[in-house]
Amino acid sequence: MEGVSWVPRLTRVLERVQHTADTVSLKLDLSLNHQPGQFVQVSVPGVGEIPLSVASFPGDRLMITFRRVGRVTAALYGLGVGDSIGVRGPFGRGFPLEGGDVLLVAGGMGLPPIRSALGSILRERDRFGTVQLLYGARRPSLLLYREEYDAWRRGDVVVSLIVDEAEDGWRGRVGVVTELFDELEVGSDATVLVCGPEIMMKFVGRGLLKMGFDPKRIYMSMERHMKCGVGLCGHCNIGPYYVCRDGPVFDFETLRNIPESGVI
Ligand SMILES: Cc1cc2nc3c(=O)[nH]c(=O)nc-3n(C[C@H](O)[C@H](O)[C@H](O)COP(=O)(O)OP(=O)(O)OC[C@H]3O[C@@H](n4cnc5c(N)ncnc54)[C@H](O)[C@@H]3O)c2cc1C
Ligand code: FES
Repeated sequence: MEGVSWVPRLTRVLERVQHTADTVSLKLDLSLNHQPGQFVQVSVPGVGEIPLSVASFPGDRLMITFRRVGRVTAALYGLGVGDSIGVRGPFGRGFPLEGGDVLLVAGGMGLPPIRSALGSILRERDRFGTVQLLYGARRPSLLLYREEYDAWRRGDVVVSLIVDEAEDGWRGRVGVVTELFDELEVGSDATVLVCGPEIMMKFVGRGLLKMGFDPKRIYMSMERHMKCGVGLCGHCNIGPYYVCRDGPVFDFETLRNIPESGVI
């Protein structure tokens, strides 16, 4: 098992899984002892380096899941089994997992770090009370890791899904993720882990506060453009904090006092 690496380790792709037309997971020949919610800096030689959440369970082979949006993600998307990429990290502060009820809320591409947290919870399921995942995507075909939901349910996780727009065969709910609050099974003293677009996190935070959840126990994973990934270049600040070093996970009490956080 490898510790933190400050310089890129050249790592081979062991497996490539196509999730949607533009989203894949790469499983890599490297095991990290990370905290769910932490990220790695992934580089394609000659192209560039980007932050990606660790999607794998702690101790397992590193898995990253990404959508092809620009230069580096396009280069990563084009890789196959046996190709090599650079990996630095894991960096940042992840989600605290202290036991009790846990509510996980993810929107779209926000599911990878939440999947990692779920993996940790499932390994020590007895330490936790009610565990519930609320996950929303634009369309049913864009829901990530669909083949894993049954295993999560068998592990006593309540999995609640919703999509913005139905497709043929979808018999589930249609709407935004906050509409799933009417299915909540966790208590308002639950620890809440949230990852998704800022606009979604804003409405999730607002809705949970109205229901009496403690802002100090709501943890949100933030995204900012990064360069160094380790608190040196000043590229990724939110107020007085660097997302790479002090985050990417922040509690909502901290974020709601920073106007430019985008979640208030
Ligand atoms: C801590 C952290 C964790 C992250 N984890 C993940 C992850 O697990 N999976 C993942 O897919 N992404 C994740 N991201 C976002 C990812 O880093 C960016 O998508 C990536 O930097 C884009 O690089 P690029 O070179 O492909 O795109 P660029 O060439 O830099 O950008 C091309 C175009 O795409 C736009 N763009 C950039 N990022 C996004 C985006 N996220 N969504 C939509 N448009 C975008 C840009 O504004 C630009 O117009 C994470 C970011 C952070 C900070
Ligand atoms: S990316 Fe350099 S300080 Fe955060």
